[in-house]
Amino acid sequence: MPSIFQPNLLVGKVAFVTGGGSGIGAGIARRLAEQGAKVALCGRTQEKLDAVAAEIRAAGGQCHTAACDVRQYAALEGAIEGAVAALGGLDILVNSAAGNFLAPAAQLSANGFRSVVDIDLCGTFNACRAAFKHLAAARGVVVSITAGQAHVPMPLQCHAGAAKAGIEKLTRDLALEWGPSGIRVVSVSPGPIEGTEGMSRLGGDDPKRMTKRVPLGRFGRIDEIADAVLYLVSPAASYVTGACLVVDGGTELIGAGPFLDLMSG
Ligand code: HXC
Ligand code: NAP
Repeated sequence: MPSIFQPNLLVGKVAFVTGGGSGIGAGIARRLAEQGAKVALCGRTQEKLDAVAAEIRAAGGQCHTAACDVRQYAALEGAIEGAVAALGGLDILVNSAAGNFLAPAAQLSANGFRSVVDIDLCGTFNACRAAFKHLAAARGVVVSITAGQAHVPMPLQCHAGAAKAGIEKLTRDLALEWGPSGIRVVSVSPGPIEGTEGMSRLGGDDPKRMTKRVPLGRFGRIDEIADAVLYLVSPAASYVTGACLVVDGGTELIGAGPFLDLMSG
């Protein structure tokens, strides 16, 4: 769906998007590029990055790709430095890379728990840390994508909940420490978003039943998350830092929302 925002909000800006090769991260990258930002996409799979980059270029945008694993600090720092060299700076960092699966805590291995925390939370810290000097030079902004698991207990999601709650705390800590450097640090917490890997992994086998647990009565769309990010990186949010914008159709208002159905079978 086309953006309702005025065009060219981000001309002259450069964005680096982890997890930009698919789903919500790709949707955010497309939206930022539509608004004139030059974008760099990061993820482990070069083919996925290439496909999104081709779409962005075909629409007239400028796009750089950098395949790496956000868990590997040196590689990620190299990817960020490469993007800065290719695109001329760094104003916007979006942390959307994540891993998730359904697993009961009593059966989840230590390595399974660690893998998710490592990708989501440590990967977010790694990207923020590696981007700091560039963001400070640009008086830029960080937006990290979290999830309702950060706020309410959810069955089969203790690993993702710990990781996303950690990102939200990191967001507030960095907002405090980096405010004097002119960097805003915020997060967006999507609800269940249709057509995503997250929903295909977590959505169960009866989506209709699950939408009944969303107060607005439907799943969200990728463009609705992309527009929330666009607002936060735009001048309209110039006094917003440390905040989490929940974009979930009211799902959290009823606790675990659609995910309660996973526990009841
Ligand atoms: C239990 C699992 C598991 C599963 C993996 N593991 N899948 N445990 N149930 N379904 C365990 C493995 O057994 C292993 O532990 C450990 O996790 C690491 O697994 P690897 O496959 O070696 O890890 P890796 O290759 O690093 O892959 C990471 C991954 C994978 C998270 C496991 O699924 C991945 O790459 N995901 C990326 C894409 C993704 O998940 N997208 C969805 C994001 S959506 P042992 O002990 O055996 O060594 C999202 C939705 C939010 O976050 C909310 C929606 C509303
Ligand atoms: P997705 O398409 O699987 O997006 C995750 C991306 O992260 C993938 O492109 C993946 O690409 C990349 N990635 C995973 N591990 C990585 C690593 N170690 N290093 C670098 N990149 C890595 O899933 P999605 O559903 O769109 O989720 C996107 C974000 O939204 C996630 O933060 C998720 O937690 C959040 N979220 C989603 C929903 C939802 O309903 N879908 C709801 C709430 C929050 P590679 O595998 O190629 O690396």
